[in-house]
Amino acid sequence: MLFFGGDYNPEQWPQEVWAEDVALMRQAGVTMVSLGVFAWSHLEPEEGRFTFDWLDRIMDLLHDGGIKVALATPTASPPPWFTLAHPEGLPVTADGVRLTHGSRDTYCVSAPAYRAAARRIAAELAGRYARHPALALWHVHNEYGTDCRCDLTAEAFRSWLRKKHGDLDALNESWTTAFWSQRYSDWAQIMPPRATQYLPNPAHVLDFRRFLSDELLGAFTEQRDLLRAASPVVPITTNFVQGGWVSVDHARWASEVDVVAVDHYPAAAGIEGEAETAFGGDLARGWAGGEWLLMETAPNLIYTPGRMHAKEPGRLTRHSLNYVARGSRGAMYFQWRQPRGGAELFHSALVPHAGPDSPVFREAVGLGRALKALAPHAGGTVEARVAVGWDAPSWWALQGGGLPAADIDYPAAVQQAHRALYRAGVATDFVFPGREGFGAGLTAYRIVVLPHLFLISDESAAALREFVAGGGHLVVGHLSGIADPAGRIRLGGYPGAFRDVLGVRVVEWRPLAPGTTIALDNGDQGVRWSERVETAGAETVVGYAGDVLAGAPAITRNRFGKGVAWYVSPGLDDDALRRLLERVAAEAGVTPVLPGLPPGVEAVRQGDLVFLFNHGGTPGMVPLPGPGSNAVTGRAVTGPVTVQPGGVLVWRPA
Ligand code: GAL
Repeated sequence: MLFFGGDYNPEQWPQEVWAEDVALMRQAGVTMVSLGVFAWSHLEPEEGRFTFDWLDRIMDLLHDGGIKVALATPTASPPPWFTLAHPEGLPVTADGVRLTHGSRDTYCVSAPAYRAAARRIAAELAGRYARHPALALWHVHNEYGTDCRCDLTAEAFRSWLRKKHGDLDALNESWTTAFWSQRYSDWAQIMPPRATQYLPNPAHVLDFRRFLSDELLGAFTEQRDLLRAASPVVPITTNFVQGGWVSVDHARWASEVDVVAVDHYPAAAGIEGEAETAFGGDLARGWAGGEWLLMETAPNLIYTPGRMHAKEPGRLTRHSLNYVARGSRGAMYFQWRQPRGGAELFHSALVPHAGPDSPVFREAVGLGRALKALAPHAGGTVEARVAVGWDAPSWWALQGGGLPAADIDYPAAVQQAHRALYRAGVATDFVFPGREGFGAGLTAYRIVVLPHLFLISDESAAALREFVAGGGHLVVGHLSGIADPAGRIRLGGYPGAFRDVLGVRVVEWRPLAPGTTIALDNGDQGVRWSERVETAGAETVVGYAGDVLAGAPAITRNRFGKGVAWYVSPGLDDDALRRLLERVAAEAGVTPVLPGLPPGVEAVRQGDLVFLFNHGGTPGMVPLPGPGSNAVTGRAVTGPVTVQPGGVLVWRPA
């Protein structure tokens, strides 16, 4: 089965609407809804008093309608009674402001009262619904990521630090506390990072984010374990969200969930949004190591800073099938029915304020039909011979102040590398240098690309060296391999972790002022960043041609063992990076998914299936590898085939 549905909040509606909801879900082919995500105050209106009657009724109604339930524990939004009874369970900001209820995610994950209340409501739900026939999945919490700097957090942080560092000498050394007289002589002196006079210690901030990831994971696993004990066969997940504020290392969390579930909201309008969709899908597949589930995306209006924009006709279908092509076991949305009020009252939904007589609902009905037809064929492996590195701690380390440029943007750098490969039509995976088994996993790839991999351990650097020595092709961008996992610089010339394999030594960074560029001797321009690079065995493929760097190496290539390692010192624009990666791919024998695609047409291969997406405005003629059929309609399709503008065709070989 492919899951199709979304967040469903019947508690926001009178019961008359429920029957209509289920009828409309059936009409659209909805197979599963996420229920109860923010329903805590409706399930436990006062401490210890539970009101499950309404949930019983809706669970039964959904079951009668043949619709499965991803039943949420509502712990992302404690009710007002909780915060009044347990004010220490409210989060405190870095500025020392204790927040109050009135929004969501207003809790301190380290507060024993919050944890106890969360376990209690989760246990009640487990006890009551573990055997309900509609239950298909436990959806723990919503988008873990809440941050708190209170005294309870301070205590939990200290115990985490004790476990990690053992003693204060080791911590002082790891954090370089000799700088600015920060030496700690008692654990009690260590606080969570709070508002301070000037720049904080970056190692302190980095460890706090790692701590928070583990602390939140502890909150997840205690709920998971009690749900599992109540219903051992029902899979358990929590929905991952990305964002600079999220202190969750999803690559590490992935092994703790039964299904990797991801919320993904591409924000860009037009063709840019397609590359973003592909990025989100490929990253989720990487976290999962295979199949995953798109738990939330916007059916229509998308939040972008300043103005929401609506999806063009066909885009809901194209986006959804794109996630499916990239390994999602379906497409779920936030949300089923657009609310009448509340903070997100204009957020799009499958059933909008206009009701089912609307373009979005009509498109949803068609999509439901397509997913149903596709379900028996989907689920094959997406194979890629190229992988891009992703590392949450490197992102965190590159968010601080005191960096050489204010516009250093970790996710943008990784997305750009992915986008260049996407535009080259090359299937791409992600690898996670901080994850166990990183080295062994590299054998699947011909090419590994590392943008802004600022932190790296000796073991992961050794694994990459071995990858190249064994015949792999490595592409390292600036700001990679600079520091150890504590954020201490690897001395002797950048990038300390990779100098030998790259055959270069960087002796000076020369970040470019916004809006300025530096000429390269192949006619391209360097953007954002330049450096003084000295070769130590590598050949110069492209040189700098401007500024004081004229004549110095910019892009280099080094033979190392049986493989090749490239160093890309300047920032490049999308076209230049795509051309470079196309050259690397050609040398490494990596070919596009389908050669000869017209502009705007994208191909994704999943097992035997080939998904063709036409994101452009004109019909696209696509050569196909042989006779076959349209996996959705069953009609025979033998190439070349025309994919209509804005359309999708899923081809299945005969
Ligand atoms: C998600 C969240 C939903 C809703 C949505 C809006 O991150 O889980 O509850 O807020 O964003 O886009």
